[in-house]
Amino acid sequence: MANYPKTPGFTGTLRPLRFEGDIHDLEIDGEVPPQLNGTYHRVHPDQQYAPVFETDQFFNGDGMVALFHFENGRIHFKQRFAQTDKWKLEREARRALFGAYRNPLTDHESVKGRIRGTANTNVLVHAGKLFAMKEDSPALLMDPMTLETYGYTDFAGKMKGETFCAHPKIDPVTGNLCAFGYAAKGVLTRDCHYMEISPTGELVQETFFEAPYYCMMHDFGLTQDYAVFHVVPITSSWDRLKAGLPHFGFDTTLPVYLGVLPRHGDAGAMRWFKAPTVFASHVMNAFNDGTKVYFDTPVAKNNMFPFFPDWHGAPFKPMESQSFLTRWTVDMASPNDSFDKVERLTDLFGEFPRIDDRYASQSHRHGWLLVSDREKPFEGPGGRASGLIMNCITHINFTNDQQTTWWAGPQTIVQEPCFIPRGPNAPEGDGYLIAVLDNLVTNYSDLAIFDAQRIADGPLARAKLPFRMRPALHGNWADASKLAAA
Ligand SMILES: [Fe+2]
Repeated sequence: MANYPKTPGFTGTLRPLRFEGDIHDLEIDGEVPPQLNGTYHRVHPDQQYAPVFETDQFFNGDGMVALFHFENGRIHFKQRFAQTDKWKLEREARRALFGAYRNPLTDHESVKGRIRGTANTNVLVHAGKLFAMKEDSPALLMDPMTLETYGYTDFAGKMKGETFCAHPKIDPVTGNLCAFGYAAKGVLTRDCHYMEISPTGELVQETFFEAPYYCMMHDFGLTQDYAVFHVVPITSSWDRLKAGLPHFGFDTTLPVYLGVLPRHGDAGAMRWFKAPTVFASHVMNAFNDGTKVYFDTPVAKNNMFPFFPDWHGAPFKPMESQSFLTRWTVDMASPNDSFDKVERLTDLFGEFPRIDDRYASQSHRHGWLLVSDREKPFEGPGGRASGLIMNCITHINFTNDQQTTWWAGPQTIVQEPCFIPRGPNAPEGDGYLIAVLDNLVTNYSDLAIFDAQRIADGPLARAKLPFRMRPALHGNWADASKLAAA
């Protein structure tokens, strides 16, 4: 029986969805630009069975992958579970066997030592395969069109580390998929590895390094010459796991580091720059000009994750949890280990930053992010697991610092957006922005399509789903030409 706990993580906005199915030709309001041919995949956590613990983290859900297939003005929908090893073992047992989030000590004896990954954080097409990713485990490969699961990959035995991050970047110059993993030699280890995977799916580089301390290394920055890693004190220990505490806690006594690894040198040339403690998770983009490295990330003064509480028991401080897009600059030629510059780029409280990914690792002129405007009325129940109400999308033109915002209305929250170029030769930022909108009152979701630089005009079209999606983490667009080349 699938009886879920009557706790905030499994009721209301976060009620399990678990729906697998297909809808041919979604109902559409407006007109979908007919030249948009390709796929938008996104993934959300969705426990297949009731969790072992009532207080289970949102991030512990099984990956549910959705595909919006754009075809000549039409959009077809498909949704399937990522069939991880965990999912298969639990399907066979007809109940949850894996215990608490990132705590293998809580697993059923029958699954000890098995891969605990849920493939619930990000999905991205590379080398003709859909990579479904969770940072505590290898990447799971799926078919991008059928959503059939192939299984975990170690790249024909070449990947020696155990983990693969959920925020890899495609270098637009080489076409390589650039990724890393932390806890690469086991749970709680400080070992990390940086990897590049060729456009045909071969692992062509794996470089190991050690982080200053173990922490949730959720995202990273890629430049043309460097891989850049921010270490913020969302940390853990075996004592925490033995005590049954949430895997992560935020330790304000530890400093922040920014590690800069030359992509094509050896790990011995890596440098760690140090700064006072703040919170940062996602990376909008990074780039370098010679030895100067620029790293754009939303930064909050204190912990943003109430579900990963303060290490020393301090109460969660909502006002200090607001993040503002910030540029960190460090210089590989600097004789000291401090940051060169810290510069706030906007006063809007935002997260889930995106760019035109054709400019990943290079200087970018356009960016988009979800914004929480608390001045606006809100009629729905709580939004994301974090309690955040992301009710706006903002476009920032960095050439003139112009910011334009679209508010989704009093009933709706917005999921992470994704940029699609207008065509293969369109200038940077010229194209469309898509995002799933969740109406928390009517309980329907739409996939909305905006003109990316005219966000304030509202959606050009909405593809309407006959239900409400669970809040997702991340997703990506793949042009049809990328799928045909597979
Ligand atoms: Fe993320």
